[in-house]
Amino acid sequence: MKHVFRTALAALLLAAPLASPAAPVTYALPDESATFRPGPGVETAESNCGACHSADYIEYQPPGMGADFWSAEVTKMIKVYGAPISEEDAKAIAAYLAATY
Ligand code: HEC
Repeated sequence: MKHVFRTALAALLLAAPLASPAAPVTYALPDESATFRPGPGVETAESNCGACHSADYIEYQPPGMGADFWSAEVTKMIKVYGAPISEEDAKAIAAYLAATY
């Protein structure tokens, strides 16, 4: 009796994954989450800041942080994370971010 029960249980466990094939997963990505907001200097920001991560990291910062914050943020990307960005581009990007975000 015990043996029959075990066999039935094993059959059930083996059959379970076959009986419920994984349903195809579909989900919508949030609109525009990975793109930079339009504005003067957006191409410079896109090409320099999009190399390592999406614009999400910028989008997640509180709005209206101002020029000093964005300038420090760009400097941090260069000094701490090694982003290869020229001084000229860094200034243009900081100005773009302060004006646009
Ligand atoms: C060399 C790769 C690299 C480049 C290029 C880069 N970043 Fe980052 N960035 C990072 C890393 C690494 C983090 C931290 C990720 C983490 O903590 O999960 C980060 C995080 C951030 C954050 C989140 C806040 C913070 O300080 O951690 C912001 C905002 C940000 N980056 C903005 C920018 C901007 C603006 C540019 C363009 C000037 C840029 N990044 C270019 C690597 C890069």
